[in-house]
Amino acid sequence: MSLIKSEELFSKLAKQSKASSIREILKIIQSSDVISLAGGMPDPTTFPVEEIKEICSQILTRDSARALQYSSTEGLLKLREFLFQWLNMDAKKYTTDNIIITSGSQQGLDLVSKALLDPGDIVIVELPSYLAALNVFRSYGAEMIGIPMDSEGMQMESLEDTLEKITSKGKKVKFVYTISNFQNPAGVTMSLPRRKKMLEIAQKYDFFILEDNPYDKLRFEGEPIPSIFSFDYEGRVINLGTFSKILCPGLRLAWVSGNEEIIEKIATLKQATDLCTTMLNQLIASEYCEQGYIDKNIESNISIYKDKRDIMLQSLEKYFPEGTSWTKPNGGFFVFVTLPEYIDTDEMFSDAIKEKVAYVSGSSFYADGKGKNTMRLSFCYPSKEDIEEGIKRLGKVISKQIRK
Ligand SMILES: Cc1ncc(COP(=O)(O)O)c(C=O)c1O
Repeated sequence: MSLIKSEELFSKLAKQSKASSIREILKIIQSSDVISLAGGMPDPTTFPVEEIKEICSQILTRDSARALQYSSTEGLLKLREFLFQWLNMDAKKYTTDNIIITSGSQQGLDLVSKALLDPGDIVIVELPSYLAALNVFRSYGAEMIGIPMDSEGMQMESLEDTLEKITSKGKKVKFVYTISNFQNPAGVTMSLPRRKKMLEIAQKYDFFILEDNPYDKLRFEGEPIPSIFSFDYEGRVINLGTFSKILCPGLRLAWVSGNEEIIEKIATLKQATDLCTTMLNQLIASEYCEQGYIDKNIESNISIYKDKRDIMLQSLEKYFPEGTSWTKPNGGFFVFVTLPEYIDTDEMFSDAIKEKVAYVSGSSFYADGKGKNTMRLSFCYPSKEDIEEGIKRLGKVISKQIRK
């Protein structure tokens, strides 16, 4: 209880901000017997607890003064050196100065937006896209324009048409935001020709590409596709990576790679945000990677998540009624389901909760407010048994809505 009238004193930004629907859902279903196919949290059995305990103890014995101290805003050089090699960054184009460590990719999204956006600036996003990124762009007053996707990612003709319209009004786009691998929420991966085309279009219309890549290492099958960042030679692509899905999100460790000017700007802005990313956590991740654990952990994560993906896809085939369709991701955490047009997944949510299953309704991911008949299902967190049971329950809920 507070006696002060806080609302009157809130900033415009705070007044406009709404709690994320996903967070609200997670609150409802936490500690209940609802099977949640909603949250995008990693499976905690993938967290390498023993190795982290051991490494943490080594660091605190050997290097506590440094580990518990403030550190440079750009982040631990040793960790940036590791990332440079591990990500195969091209030494002809980049150095470790082109990487900054952030407190999660969410901070990367915030700092890039802070560096590039003024109120009214245009950002192009995928339809659908990552809700928490849309919230960041919105908080900086961006106007978001959505471009539809298909099985190869963002549709380039539609992007060009939209850009023609925007430029004919004398306006300009600041950046296109894309999650090029195993997209959140759609599970779709952008094809190589589309990646090349997107860069070409960015050159023609002169904007940045913000490529967010938290899932790229979690590929279950097929050959990896080079990131847009890897074939950019102008410093036009800003790339975000994170340890959240391949190590653990609790360390809050991620990185932004980009041209020197943008990285310097981000460093200046980060000083006003948190001064630096936690040194202890950077040392833990750095040691973990140097001791050769990271690739092994990723290998084991892939096998765990692939099994779960398979169970989800098999269960969807078995329990979902005719008239429904879904994406078949080759990696990552998510499957995106489309129901017949007349079903509203927001309205259906309370029926699902009665049947003790939860999902995220698709409309929250659409910058244009559409997607009412879609939903995101996550296979990352629940057990295999819960995935099958959850899909069975959801199939029942949807079947009741299907018009014969
Ligand atoms: C597309 C995307 N970007 C960024 C993030 C945030 O990741 P982090 O934990 O590094 O802040 C997530 C987390 O789910 C995500 O799905």
